[in-house]
Parts: sequence; C-alpha cells; structure tokens
Amino acid sequence: MGRLQEKVAIVTGAASGIGRASALCLAKEGACVVVADLNSEDGERVVGEIAAAGGRATFQHTDVANEQAISALVERAVHEYGRLDVMFNNAGLAGAIGPIEAVSSSDWDKTIAVMLRGVFLGIKYAVEPMRKAGGGSIISTSSVAAFLPLRYGAAYAAAKGGVISLTRAAALQLGPDRIRVNCICPGVINTPIWGVVPALSDPSAVEQLLGHAQTIPRVGRPEDVASMVLYLASDESQWVTGTAMIVDGGLTVGPNLPAVSGQLAQSIYAGPSFKR
Ligand SMILES: NC(=O)c1ccc[n+]([C@@H]2O[C@H](COP(=O)([O-])OP(=O)(O)OC[C@H]3O[C@@H](n4cnc5c(N)ncnc54)[C@H](O)[C@@H]3O)[C@@H](O)[C@H]2O)c1
Repeated sequence: MGRLQEKVAIVTGAASGIGRASALCLAKEGACVVVADLNSEDGERVVGEIAAAGGRATFQHTDVANEQAISALVERAVHEYGRLDVMFNNAGLAGAIGPIEAVSSSDWDKTIAVMLRGVFLGIKYAVEPMRKAGGGSIISTSSVAAFLPLRYGAAYAAAKGGVISLTRAAALQLGPDRIRVNCICPGVINTPIWGVVPALSDPSAVEQLLGHAQTIPRVGRPEDVASMVLYLASDESQWVTGTAMIVDGGLTVGPNLPAVSGQLAQSIYAGPSFKR
C-alpha cells in the first residue's frame, strides 16, 4: 500500500521540473493528483505519464497569480476526488533579473505575484477543504536564495524569503486545525528554470558549471526535492510544521573550495593546528 493511499493532492507548476517529479511521486504512492500549470501541453503529458503508471490524475490549466484560477483549482480537486489533503504550491520562474535600479516595478510585481501572492492564494483556498477533511499538509517551494541570494536576483530572493515567513505564520495559525504548513528550500536543481542564463541553457551545462558548487559533487535532481515533498505530504511528518527544509547537497553549509581546503590540509595539518 502506498504512503498516500486515499489522499488527494494538488501540485502547481506540475508540467515541468520539481512539480512534475513530485506529481509522479505522489501519484505513485497512491494519491489522486491534480496537475496544475500554465503549460497545458506538458501538463496533460504528465497526466498521461501518471495514468500509464496506473495512477489517477487530472490537468487543470491554472495561473497561480490569479485568485479565481486558484479558487477553481481547489474546487476542481474537491469535485473530482471528494476532498483535499495536500496542496503543493510550487509554480515559479526566474522572474525579474538584473540590478535593482534597472528592475521595473511591473516586473517586480509579476515576480512577487507568481511566487508569493500565488503561495498565499494556494494556502488561503486550501484551508476550508482541509478543515473539512480534518487536517492536511500544505507545502510550498521556497529556495536557498531566500538567504543565499544570487546577485541580480533581488525580486526572486524577496519572494522566496516571503514564502518562509508566510509558511511560519500560517503554520502557527493552522496547527489547531491539524493543517501543517511547511516549505522546501531547494539548492541547484537541474530543471529548465536555469535556461534563462544563456550559459546554462542545457542540462549538461548546468551539471558541468554548477556540479561542484555544493559539497556533494553533483547538482540536484527534481526527484531529490520530490522525496522531501512526499515526506511532508505523508503522515510520517505529522508532527512537523512551520519548517523550511533545505535540500541542497550541502550548498549552504559553506563555500566548497576544494583547492583551498586541499592546500590547507597539506600545509597545516601535520598535527593539530594550534601547535607552534
Ligand atoms: N531549479 C532550481 O534550481 C530551483 C531552486 C530553488 C527553488 N526552485 C523553485 O522550484 C519551483 C519549481 O521550479 P523548477 O525548477 O521545477 O522550474 P521549471 O521551469 O521546470 O518548472 C516551473 C513550472 O511552473 C510553471 N509556471 C510558471 N508560472 C506559472 C504560473 N503563473 N501559474 C502556473 N504555473 C506556472 C511553468 O509553466 C513550469 O511548468 C519554482 O518555485 C522555483 O522557483 C527551483
């Protein structure tokens, strides 16, 4: 029996990358999944993949920045499968990139609308059906960029930092309803999102250029994040709420500078370093 048997999950941004891998993983563990995305063609393809593997899924075209669309998405899940247990607010994009003084206020607003307002709307509309179901698990995708921003990625970092604060506030409010609210901070995950950087437009370039940025010497795979989504979605995490789970191969532990570390080890460690 799967770890999510009888459960109903919504995954936004499920046509690609982390969302796709998570939708496949949740369905494999027995959940009925509503695949939500702006990209209908790829979203329908994910539904087909789930069905081919023996799972149950349906596609709903959704713009997460649009309140009516999120309301309709939640209604669809409840109408189609009878309840809502898991809401994964994952849709995202690189957003406004560039020096702050050059970022237009409308690009700033669009970035925040998808990645922070979209998460707020996902939480807001999940509450009522989850209360009815006696509880639930809300998961959102933040990023290590919330505390380790990329230069020229201020709007993205601000949105992702907001997701952590929103997660904590919602967890505090919704605990008595047995609704858990957590977020995940992925490090470098090899998905099409990196395509906005010309040098990283194909997956092998992402591996080659960023594979050694973290102490575990490879970039992340969407499945690395999906495993955390599964844990947070399942009852195994029933006493876990308000967290920001880091899944980054050790990127935020410290700078991975093998050349420097190697030289330090050779030059100093002939014994304890405090020996004169
Ligand atoms: N890939 C990484 O290195 C990384 C690291 C940290 C956080 N993240 C976050 O992970 C999440 C998933 O990104 P990914 O890496 O899988 O990228 P991706 O580009 O593979 O997938 C993102 C999906 O979101 C969809 N989307 C974009 N805007 C939307 C909207 N307004 N409404 C509905 N769907 C929309 C896209 O169509 C796409 O299918 C994002 O929130 C991203 O910020 C990614």
